[in-house]
Amino acid sequence: MGSHLSEYLLSQGHEVTVLDDLSTGTRENLTAVPGHGSVGLVEGSVLDEATLARAMDGMDTVFHLASAVGVKLVVADPLRTIETSVRGTRLVMEKALERGARVLVTSTSEIYGKNGAVPLGEEADRVLGSPLRSRWSYSEGKAMEELIARTYWAEHGVPVTIARLFNTVGPRQTGRYGMVLPRFVAQAVAGEALTVYGDGSQTRCFCWVGDVVPALVGLVGCEGARGDAVNLGSTDEVTVAELAARVVQATGSSSEVVHMPYEEAYGEGFEEIPRRVPDITRARELIGFEPRTSLDEIIARLVDGARGSRSGKAPTV
Ligand SMILES: NC(=O)c1ccc[n+]([C@@H]2O[C@H](COP(=O)([O-])OP(=O)(O)OC[C@H]3O[C@@H](n4cnc5c(N)ncnc54)[C@H](O)[C@@H]3O)[C@@H](O)[C@H]2O)c1
Repeated sequence: MGSHLSEYLLSQGHEVTVLDDLSTGTRENLTAVPGHGSVGLVEGSVLDEATLARAMDGMDTVFHLASAVGVKLVVADPLRTIETSVRGTRLVMEKALERGARVLVTSTSEIYGKNGAVPLGEEADRVLGSPLRSRWSYSEGKAMEELIARTYWAEHGVPVTIARLFNTVGPRQTGRYGMVLPRFVAQAVAGEALTVYGDGSQTRCFCWVGDVVPALVGLVGCEGARGDAVNLGSTDEVTVAELAARVVQATGSSSEVVHMPYEEAYGEGFEEIPRRVPDITRARELIGFEPRTSLDEIIARLVDGARGSRSGKAPTV
């Protein structure tokens, strides 16, 4: 998402500096951005206070996206997940306070855990499994991230807004860490079987990154959103089984769809979330947010992009 945000900010005439430890991000993601030559890249961790301070010097706005992302990564490394969220956000907020910068923090729909309400409004309760299950470390870390951000606003007046992102997809996203749509697209384009975890009845809503990025910029400038959390996502709900079928159809591939138990994919005791649909009324009212790209269009663009990468041509998206 950071590369798309950089692209958008440059197109609006802003100067951009990126801080990334390149743990899951890559330099190539940034070099794909038109005008990337003017983006300053500071390679380092948000947990390294001196590097963070250097990256934030002279900045009036900070988009805090650094995080361990993807169920596979989270389950494999819960400590890193928690530390990046909790300590990383504390440091970002402290440096923002010192510099008078405004901040946009990226939280997640995982905050709501197993709450089965449809749709999920921002005031919905968090329903989580045991903390002994590492899959909840991301949700716990992001909840602390929200609390830290909100406290810096309430106690120190730092202008901060929390965006709670639901599944966001687009070019340059990798399926390596558990993201379902890029994985399905890569499998179908390669003519491999598509692996659906569980019975495929779990639902998600996929939003195009190009619809989300302007909303992040809108939120960071929105006085009415200060100190608050705002859902961002699509409300077009699809089961994962249906998603697989639509990807196969879009590619015209003869790939089969196979099922794999969650335990095999993510280890013993994994808990899936059956449905996840955002209530986006708040984002609509505050910044006129509207997810405009349909799921079929999203799939078509990702398939084009994946075919472009496989043939060595520049992706078309
Ligand atoms: N994509 C989604 O569906 C989604 C959904 C909910 C929330 N989010 C949130 O949005 C933000 C961006 O996610 P994304 O989808 O672009 O994932 P991503 O993995 O592409 O981006 C995260 C970036 O953070 C970097 N990073 C990780 N640890 C770091 C550290 N200690 N210091 C500096 N950089 C570090 C990674 O190298 C990567 O470039 C994250 O905070 C994520 O939790 C994303």
